[in-house]
Amino acid sequence: KEALHVALLGYGTVGKGVYETIKQHQGRLQKLLGKEVKVVAVLVKNISKHKLSDRSVILTDQYKDIINIQKLDVVIDAIVGIEPAYSFLQQAINRGCHVITANKEMFAHHSKDLHALAKEKGVTVGFEATVAGGIPIIQTLKRLLNANKVQKIEGILNGTSNFILTKMREEKLLFTDALSLAQDLGYAEADPTNDIDGHDAFFKAVILSEVLFGEQPDWGKAVRVGISTIKSEDIAYFQSLGLRFKHVASLQRTNKTVVCTVRPVLVSEAHPLYQVEDVQNAINIEADIVGNISLQGPGAGMFPTASAIIEDIIHIDDKEYGPCFEEESSISESAEQLWIAYG
Ligand code: NDP
Ligand code: HSE
Repeated sequence: KEALHVALLGYGTVGKGVYETIKQHQGRLQKLLGKEVKVVAVLVKNISKHKLSDRSVILTDQYKDIINIQKLDVVIDAIVGIEPAYSFLQQAINRGCHVITANKEMFAHHSKDLHALAKEKGVTVGFEATVAGGIPIIQTLKRLLNANKVQKIEGILNGTSNFILTKMREEKLLFTDALSLAQDLGYAEADPTNDIDGHDAFFKAVILSEVLFGEQPDWGKAVRVGISTIKSEDIAYFQSLGLRFKHVASLQRTNKTVVCTVRPVLVSEAHPLYQVEDVQNAINIEADIVGNISLQGPGAGMFPTASAIIEDIIHIDDKEYGPCFEEESSISESAEQLWIAYG
């Protein structure tokens, strides 16, 4: 069988992770897909910084070198920001390629347009890596909780924030030092502002909302607070009371609107997010038939994110599912009640 020809946009933490994982697990991928997965080209911004071990792979800083490749099946977006990523993926879909993205900022803004275009062209859009790193939350919601009506979803969706809060509490690191460490480990965004001001977690909540409810929360009405104003003294004080700060994103549907809040919350030991530490993310799902489900795992980093993208490659030909559940939920709890969650 002909190989699956893949182009990689970006060769930073995520791009390198995908490149290495495809190389390392080629045998496994071939078994699952029945054909070789071949990276044919890599796009970067500053070409002088990069060198690929395999000289037959095109390394370029020009997207036209990618989009004009004759045999191309999948384009993977591991670059930064809304543009040019959105335009690149539109062009890829238009020429009949499947696309996979890790770029939550772009996807929160343009998921509907990309899905519509992909549907028209008969290709798929994989976006498992946009939410919660290596946790398979998108596939779980899209494919495994269809008969259930999800009433509420709440969790830690930014690995960098959780890592910083953990290091400030456990090791008494300064905020800036903990952030530098998160950057060194490849957890933080190229510009970490989105991590620490709550935008990154908000984009992920928006993507989850589309999957769950088929619509986004009102961006102007959503509560979005980051962790940058939390002081070391506050962390120490609340620790002495048995409480920890967690940066929590929450989504629920009330009266036909989706209420979204993203903010630091104090939790006690009894709370399911209390023990979620370092770069871990966790998501608690409340659904009407099954009850409560929790998923926890690495929320950022090279190989957890590569794992999500590789799983998307494996499922590239799967049928697309619609939003999990489109009916109105009966939940009426106000967003304000979620501000402090003591166990
Ligand atoms: P990095 O900053 O490590 O890498 C970004 C890569 O994209 C670099 O190779 C850079 O090129 C390239 N790039 C950036 N802009 C352009 C452009 N305009 N044209 C061509 N190439 C470009 O980022 P990450 O790998 O950490 O993240 C990549 C994406 O994945 C982001 O959207 C991020 O939000 C998302 N993501 C990241 C996770 C993580 O844990 N790091 C987890 C999940 C998602 P050059 O090297 O030449 O500068
Ligand atoms: N910067 C992001 C985080 C990467 O720390 O969660 C994963 O999306």
